Amino acid sequence: MRRILVKDIRNDKKVESQILKLLKKLTLDEKIAMIHAAGLFKTAPIDRLDIPALICSDGPMGVRCEFHNSRWIPTGNNDDNVTYMPSNSALASTWNPELAKRSGHVLGEEARGRGKDVILAPGINIKRSPLCGRNFEYMSEDPKLTASIAVPFIKGIQENDVAACVKHFACNVQETDRHMVDTIVDERTLYELYFPAFKAAVQEGASYSIMGAYNVLNGAHCCENKALLDFVLREEWGYDGAVISDWGGIHKTKEAAEVTMDLEMSIFPDFDNYMFANPLKEAIEKGEISESCVDSKVRNILRLMFRLKMIGKQKDKRKAGTYNTPEHRDIVLHTAEESMILLKNEKNKLPLDRKKVKKLAVIGQNAAKIHSDGGGSAEIKALYEIAPLMGIKTLLGGNTEVIYEPGYYVPEKRKTFDHNWQEKSLDEIEGTDIGFLFRQEDTSPEALARAEAFRKEEEEKAAQKEKEKQLIHEKNIVLFEQALNAAKEADEVIFIGGLDHNYDCEGSDRESMKLPYEQDLLIEELLKVRKDAIITFVAGSPVEMPWRDKAETILWSYYAGMETGNAFAKIIFGEINPSGKLAETFPAKYEDCVTAKNGQFGIRGRITLEEGLYCGYRYFDKENILPAFCFGHGLSYTKYEYSNLSIKQEKNGKVKVSFNVKNIGKMAGAETAQLYVAPIAPKIDRPVKELKAYKKVRITPGRSGKITLTLSRQDFSYFDTDIHGFTADVGDYEILIGASSDDIRLKGVYTLA
Ligand code: BGC
Repeated sequence: MRRILVKDIRNDKKVESQILKLLKKLTLDEKIAMIHAAGLFKTAPIDRLDIPALICSDGPMGVRCEFHNSRWIPTGNNDDNVTYMPSNSALASTWNPELAKRSGHVLGEEARGRGKDVILAPGINIKRSPLCGRNFEYMSEDPKLTASIAVPFIKGIQENDVAACVKHFACNVQETDRHMVDTIVDERTLYELYFPAFKAAVQEGASYSIMGAYNVLNGAHCCENKALLDFVLREEWGYDGAVISDWGGIHKTKEAAEVTMDLEMSIFPDFDNYMFANPLKEAIEKGEISESCVDSKVRNILRLMFRLKMIGKQKDKRKAGTYNTPEHRDIVLHTAEESMILLKNEKNKLPLDRKKVKKLAVIGQNAAKIHSDGGGSAEIKALYEIAPLMGIKTLLGGNTEVIYEPGYYVPEKRKTFDHNWQEKSLDEIEGTDIGFLFRQEDTSPEALARAEAFRKEEEEKAAQKEKEKQLIHEKNIVLFEQALNAAKEADEVIFIGGLDHNYDCEGSDRESMKLPYEQDLLIEELLKVRKDAIITFVAGSPVEMPWRDKAETILWSYYAGMETGNAFAKIIFGEINPSGKLAETFPAKYEDCVTAKNGQFGIRGRITLEEGLYCGYRYFDKENILPAFCFGHGLSYTKYEYSNLSIKQEKNGKVKVSFNVKNIGKMAGAETAQLYVAPIAPKIDRPVKELKAYKKVRITPGRSGKITLTLSRQDFSYFDTDIHGFTADVGDYEILIGASSDDIRLKGVYTLA
């Protein structure tokens, strides 16, 4: 059943007839011009018919800077700095759909303010491996949580007459060989794990556009995948929005033309040679491809333009947007505050009392590091970015002595992160129609030379890495000593380390889950001299913490936007009570992950997701492996007591689950209560438990909040491949209410009749 919750023109006959009229007036050349790029981020306008260009921009963390039309070089003007927003992983850690809506609104308003039509966000791929380089751009390992944050985020964006472009559809679970890897996923896993958030994004969020992923899915590139685009997206989900290719995601003209892929974008400046440009026109003229394929694409693009009030009578009513407003910064700060996760606070070291700290040692490169300008297409030219050290200093003022020590050495940014990395991002593709790329079977001297150059470059990279390691080790001898001395002298010690966009980055995956730059060694030493040191991180994906039993206090922040430092300081000094919860499992060590067992990343070939549904906590539950910090975990400066579970069947067939949560500590806070459904004696193999609902409530000390969550039959069901649909078996289901997936506070049984 289709549920459209935003006001939209779907089924508006008047608009559809206007679209048809326009379509009839367009020549083949004009239609072709509308379905491929004429700039790195835009199509050509059809001035004769008053059809404007469609202008896109990255990305999830704000509106990317302006590039020259056909070069990956920023224009360099000083008018495109923007609000740098918390990453999608930070946003999901808030477990706050209302905040997701407001964040979406900020992104949409800024995109419109910068004159964009389509903002290439949000990123909602399910996190399969903790090592995937783009995990920081994605939300969660769980489809329910992802959908619940993505839907309001999309609605927030689109309130501004800007289209969201939810990405990357589908199963873009790795960056290694991302253009060619064939991801093999069974049908049930697709429908239960990898599809639901996309389905919610297009049906409930009514995302006006969606981006086809780079990878191959079950034998066909996503941007040319009939089963994925024609059958699942259009037929089953009833999608009438625009499908946009990832940049260079189309490889074959006929295949892509004949599925409902609407707009070809890529990274090359030879726009006329795009698959949907001259090659498609020629194929149509030769009668190899029917013009009706183009018509249906143009209709979808025109519909998108009507939705955005880009054409037609509504034009004057289109919102103008704006960027860099104080309101935007407030929302960004608030989101950052709610996103940070207190992983451990054993001795209640946090919050610190600012009056008692006369001398504070801050150790670690991420205390002072700026992250906004990295990561790949999610990079942002931020108006400003407050790093934790600045946040701490501005909060404390001049009466506390703050000693900063970097603690460890970070080499200069690697070469691959030049401003125009994207220009080269398709170089490694083999066996495609894209002309100048080398192919394995191509034995021409040029191809062999290119292959040789590529091999050399790889060798050089490996040698450079080895050198870097040595250098880090040498430099760290002095840096460690300075840091440890500072730690010994201070009243309090805060370590601020983690990852950066050398690791959390588009185009490559991490090699391990270990902290880089010898941070583990430093932390071990630090905990020897100061066992009360507060260990904190800024990073985009989980890291191993082999010393975690020795540390009393651990605080985690994702890349949380331009106000990261202020939010961080407010949490450290108790102006804000932390309320973030993990949207992904933090494994104790990489070997515990399903990807360590089933093959992490497919290279030059395929990766079979043999684990099926058992990704994230579903896997840890099944194998009974204790993670370092489980899905849904996050502490507060107060404590909450759960009581009075009641499970009632409503007349409409829905199940009403209610319970009380009481704040039994001394500080006001917000708790996210999570509901998991666990089938007691399932007829078929099913995950031990799955998140089906949650609610975040704000409660003052001594007060209780009543939480009511509603379940439908769908929440008990699984995808039955025999009938190609969802089935809920009758029987008993445990209803588990927890403060995290491993901290279940209340249990009840519901019998599905
Ligand atoms: C990325 C997309 C991005 C596009 C445009 C691609 O390399 O995969 O997420 O939106 O580039 O920059």
